[in-house]
Formats: sequence, C-alpha cells, structure tokens
Amino acid sequence: MNEAIRVLISEEKVTERIREVAAQINEAYQGKSIHLVCVLKGGVFFTCELAKYLHVPVTFDFMSVSSYGDDTKSSGVVKIVKDLDQPLEGKDVLVVEDIIDSGRTLSYLLKLLQERQPASLRLCTLLDKPDRRVIDVDVDYTCFEIPDEYVVGYGLDAAQLYRNLPYIGVVEE
Ligand code: IMP
Ligand code: MG
Repeated sequence: MNEAIRVLISEEKVTERIREVAAQINEAYQGKSIHLVCVLKGGVFFTCELAKYLHVPVTFDFMSVSSYGDDTKSSGVVKIVKDLDQPLEGKDVLVVEDIIDSGRTLSYLLKLLQERQPASLRLCTLLDKPDRRVIDVDVDYTCFEIPDEYVVGYGLDAAQLYRNLPYIGVVEE
C-alpha cells in the first residue's frame, strides 16, 4: 500500500476541542443524566473521549446503521444493522456521530429515534462537512467544521482501515 496520511487535525487539537465541547455539554445538562447513543463504528473513539470529560451521570447505548445501495440513496433510507439495547422513552438522549456529510444518515436516524419518545434528543458530531449537505440536520454540538476532503482517523475509516489513528488525516496516494 502506497498511501501516506497528511495530518489535518493533530491529536492535541482533537482532544483539546473535545474537552471544550464536553464542558458545553456539562453546562447544558446540569442536574440531568445523559443517555449517549454512539453510532458505530466511527463514533466509538469520539464517544469514549467525550464521555471521559462529562461530569453528569452518563449511560451508553450503541447502534449501527448503513446506507442502502446508491440507487436508493436519495430516499435517505438507512438500514439498522444493530439496534439499541435499551428504550429511549423519557431519556435525555445525545447522539454521538463521527461526521455529518450529506446529512442523509443522521436526518433519517434522528426521525427514527424521535419516535421512541425521548425527553430530549440532541446531536453531537466530531466533524461536519457543511459544503456537502444535501439534507438539513440540526447539529447541537460540533467539534470541527472541515473542508470537503475524505478524512480518516479517530474512528473514521477508508475501507475499514485507519480508524485507530489518534488524529484526523487525509489519505494521499
Ligand atoms: P451522510 O449520511 O452522507 O451524512 O454520511 C455520513 C457517514 O458517511 C458518516 O457517518 C461516515 O461513516 C461516512 N463518511 C462521510 N464522510 C466521510 C469521510 O470523510 N471519511 C470517512 N467516512 C465518511
Ligand atoms: Mg458514521
């Protein structure tokens, strides 16, 4: 493999920013508990790092979704590969995602989770590529807005590789 990774956001900057966002979340959820819904697999590293700095009581659940084939992509329908273990009813739910790109996945997912009647439903993302948005999504917490480049690391993959990199990078051939 003749690939090199150019660092876009260093490990120090990523962790520093996650702590800042955790502080905002602590402030917003004072006196409440947070039910974190991690979107697998990309959201795993961000969920763990964020949760370390949350001081309100936190519970976790995990969900895995995948887009249907390209021909149905415009419908924005995603397939639930692994559903949550616990109900959301009455909980203050914070969805934790790696990246919002077209917005299709999250717009569908949020609608689906809203039907389960959480007390509140918010969205936190490590990365956002606003230039790529096709469907509007209300993002409550964003760590970084990035340009339209394919990124890897900190949970994000290219063909399942590079998720373990402790920084955000761009693959260069
Ligand atoms: P959306 O439905 O287009 O917003 O797609 C979001 C999903 O596409 C993310 O959860 C990622 O799994 C994947 N994705 C989008 N952009 C990137 C990228 O730059 N690197 C890695 N995965 C990406
Ligand atoms: Mg994802």
